Amino acid sequence: MASSVVPASSPLPRHIGIIMDGNGRWAQRNNQFRTQGHLEGLKTAKKIVRAASDLHIQFLTLYVFSTENWKRTAEEVGFIMGLVKQYLKAELDFYRENRIRIRHAGDPGGLPPDIARELAEACEDTRSFEGLQVILALNYGGRDAIVRAVGRWFDSLAKLEHEPLEKRIQEKITEEGIRSCLDNPDIPDPDLIIRTAGEYRISNFLLWEGAYAEYYFSETLWPDWSEADLRAAISAYQQRERRFGGGNP
Ligand code: IPE
Ligand code: IPE
Ligand code: MG
Repeated sequence: MASSVVPASSPLPRHIGIIMDGNGRWAQRNNQFRTQGHLEGLKTAKKIVRAASDLHIQFLTLYVFSTENWKRTAEEVGFIMGLVKQYLKAELDFYRENRIRIRHAGDPGGLPPDIARELAEACEDTRSFEGLQVILALNYGGRDAIVRAVGRWFDSLAKLEHEPLEKRIQEKITEEGIRSCLDNPDIPDPDLIIRTAGEYRISNFLLWEGAYAEYYFSETLWPDWSEADLRAAISAYQQRERRFGGGNP
């Protein structure tokens, strides 16, 4: 049984993923336009990045925009993309000062070209930083990521022309083979996945990588989230007993 006292040695999650949900409801509750909710959500994202960096978390994946979020109105989509661009530019000095590395998960091909460019530049400019790695899941879908990985995997097989196709498929269709073709194969699987705003679903986030993540659901809307909420989620994680299918110790 999980103990209520966290042992001092309980490890921090190496990789945290956050489904930042509830911007629209926050706006509604505060009699504001949805766009204001996204603006507040961005402020929270900045706060949480700082907090994660201060806590020496190694990887933080933020679900910014899903492959399904294109279904929203052109106005809302345009506003969110504008915010992303602004964030990437405005925060560059902060990343430099704190040695934060920016990375992308998702299909850059489906993004407006100026956003894809800004994102690629932020990733390049921060590439050598050894502090917190912030992975922006933007035009990201777990299924899409797997489909694109399989596409890359198949391309890699096609290069091994000297062997018969069946042999190539049999030898290479392994978990490691597929994993190595994901967007960021060097990043460890998330230990902790948080979803805010009282929804209890994954909404296509880190389907492959989240196989053994610990999940934490918070009722608080994302714009109302604070460093204390992050600490509470981490502390809940530290009380979990992870078994990875191995049974009780
Ligand atoms: C999350 O907030 C932000 C994105 C999905 C881009 P929502 O906009 O989904 O907020 P709710 O769920 O409508 O409250
Ligand atoms: C998930 O939130 C996507 C992001 C937070 C970027 P949604 O608000 O899009 O998810 P659903 O529609 O409630 O499942
Ligand atoms: Mg939502």
